[in-house]
This record gives sequence, structure tokens and C-alpha cells, in this order.
Amino acid sequence: MFLPAVRRHIDSSPREDRGGKSLTSLDLVVLSRLTFTRVGIALVGLEVNIASDLPTLVADLVAISGGNNIKSARARSADEIFEEARRAKDEFADKWFQPSLSSWEEQNHNGDQPEALIPLMLAHPDLYEPDVREAMLNESLLFLTALTNSTSRILPHVVIELCNWRTSHGPGAEQNAALLRQAFFEAHRLHPRGPPRRYSATADLQLNDGVTIPEGWQVNLDTSSAGRDKSAFGPDADQFDPNRTLDAPLDRLVFGGGPHACIGKALSIGTGAATGISRGTDPGLVIALLDELLRAQVMLDPDRPPVSDQSTEEDNYSSCPVLLAG
Ligand code: HEM
Repeated sequence: MFLPAVRRHIDSSPREDRGGKSLTSLDLVVLSRLTFTRVGIALVGLEVNIASDLPTLVADLVAISGGNNIKSARARSADEIFEEARRAKDEFADKWFQPSLSSWEEQNHNGDQPEALIPLMLAHPDLYEPDVREAMLNESLLFLTALTNSTSRILPHVVIELCNWRTSHGPGAEQNAALLRQAFFEAHRLHPRGPPRRYSATADLQLNDGVTIPEGWQVNLDTSSAGRDKSAFGPDADQFDPNRTLDAPLDRLVFGGGPHACIGKALSIGTGAATGISRGTDPGLVIALLDELLRAQVMLDPDRPPVSDQSTEEDNYSSCPVLLAG
């Protein structure tokens, strides 16, 4: 479902004559939001008319997510963003969530275990007392926003870094799932999601270097500084290098750890063992999309540079136009 949707988006994008070549022009932010939201719809079990309603749902989710980034917002007050996010959440509840919930409630699964989030939660209401509906609504939004925001935020960074790296290293740079996964981690290392992640110690905790974090302390994980730490990544820590060898994997820096670690890691980048892209292994959605773009000879659009998202202090793009030759 995912790659066919990506291909349809590419096929329906305009072609432009550039220097005698006919190239497809599209925006990576738009492509990733539309296609990853489709995955979220299936995962959550939302009933959405893809042909007519997808862009509206994407816009609603962007408005709701504004509330996740209050700390790094520019030019708007926290109250203003919070109010808009709350209105967008109410609208989401009426427009998308309630009709889907009602439809699942009417269905009889004859004992089959449903695979989407809403029917799964519906099948186990005792776990979500006292307000099962509110729990389902909140979890649906958590899944949709966690999935679409993380994936569509990082895609432009990986593509920009990879295009620049290929320019300096030549077109022969080998393309496989392992390299693309490394590129994904490198892009995260240099362009992590901000602001720092905050953890609370629920018990005394001794770190590997002997430092003890006492119970009740809050610890900020500053991924920006950690990712560029020269003592960990070497003197070229500021450079993007998908061939970099590391002493320890970057999984925890990127996907978190412990009971609240990201549950979408395998969906995003496959499992560690997967190295092939089209030979039966599952590379993960982000890696599969990167592979598709590279096969289509993605390049940055020289006439339309990427645009930073001015609404936030975060290292995000609001637009990333690219051209495809293939
Ligand atoms: C680029 C890909 C992704 C990145 C970098 C990413 C990163 C993260 C991070 C850093 C956290 C917080 C972990 C912590 O607090 O220690 C998280 C949580 C979460 N992620 Fe992801 N994520 C990605 C993709 C996804 C996808 C595809 C899904 C959907 C299945 C997803 C669903 C979630 C959920 C539901 C949580 C909350 C877990 C909890 O609080 O128990 N993420 N993610």
C-alpha cells in the first residue's frame, strides 16, 4: 500500500523541462506527509476517503502537532498554539475519530483479532477505564502524529545530506538498505528533533561512568550536543558520513530507550538484519521510500532551495522541492 501510493504521487506530479530534460518536480514534505499519513490511517483504523479527504486530515494533524512543539515555537504564544491544537483535536474527534469508532462498534469480528488500534482497544475496554473513548482518541492521535511527524521531518534531511554527499563522493556511491539506514542515523545525529528530551528518574540510577542520578531528578537529553560530540564521533563529527563506523549504535539516541522507546522503529527502518531492498526482506518504510527516490535519481532543485520552517526553533523544513530524472 505504501510504495504504490508513493509511485502514484510521483506519477501524478508535474514534469518540467529543465535544460532539455523532462524532470518530475515534487515537494518531499508534501510527499512524505501524504504517504505516511496513509500508513497511520491503516494502523489506527480510521475510515477516511483517501481520494477526497487525505489533504484535510494531513492539515488537521499538522495543527494538532503544533501543540507538541510549544517550547520551540517562534512568534506565537504557548496559549495561542495550545488553543489551536485543542480546537484541532476536537475537530479531529468529531470529523474523523467518532465516525470510525461508530463503524468499528457496529462490526462483528467473530472472534478474529482485529489488527488496527481502535478495534484492538475496543476489544479490551477493561484496560482503558475509566474513559475508554478518551483513551482511544488520545492513542489514535499519538500514533498518527508520532508516525507522520518523525518520518516526514527527517526525510528532507536525509535526502539533502545524501545528495550533497553523493556530489562530493561521486555517483558510484553504493546504494543498499544498510547504507540508507546509516544515512538515516547520520541525518538524525546532525539534525535531531528538539528540544532536549526530558526523563525523570523513578529510582536511583547508576550510569556506566559511575555517576548516580538520584530518584526524582529530571535529566535532559540534549541530542543536538550529543550527536556532535567529537569525543564520541571523532574530529569530523560535524560531517555527514554514512560510512562512519561507530563503537555503539545510535538507536537509543534516535528512538529512545526503556518502556517508552519508539514502537515504530522496525516499521521505519526495518530490522537490523535486513540488508536487501527488494529481495523479500523488509527494509522499513523510510528506507524503502529513500530507495525509491534514489532509484528515480532524486536531486535537489537548483531553482527552489529547501525552506526552513519559520514557525519553530527546530531544525525542520516546511518545504523541500526536488527533481526526479527516472
Ligand atoms: C523517523 C522515524 C521515527 C523516529 C526517529 C521516532 C522517534 C521516537 C522517539 C525519540 C520517541 C520517544 C522515546 C522516548 O521517550 O524515550 C518515540 C516515541 C513513540 N513513537 Fe516514534 N519515531 C519514529 C517513527 C515512529 C513510527 C513510524 C511510529 C508509529 C508506529 C511511532 C510511534 C511512536 C509512539 C506511539 C511513541 C510513544 C511511545 C510511548 O510513549 O510509549 N514512531 N519515537
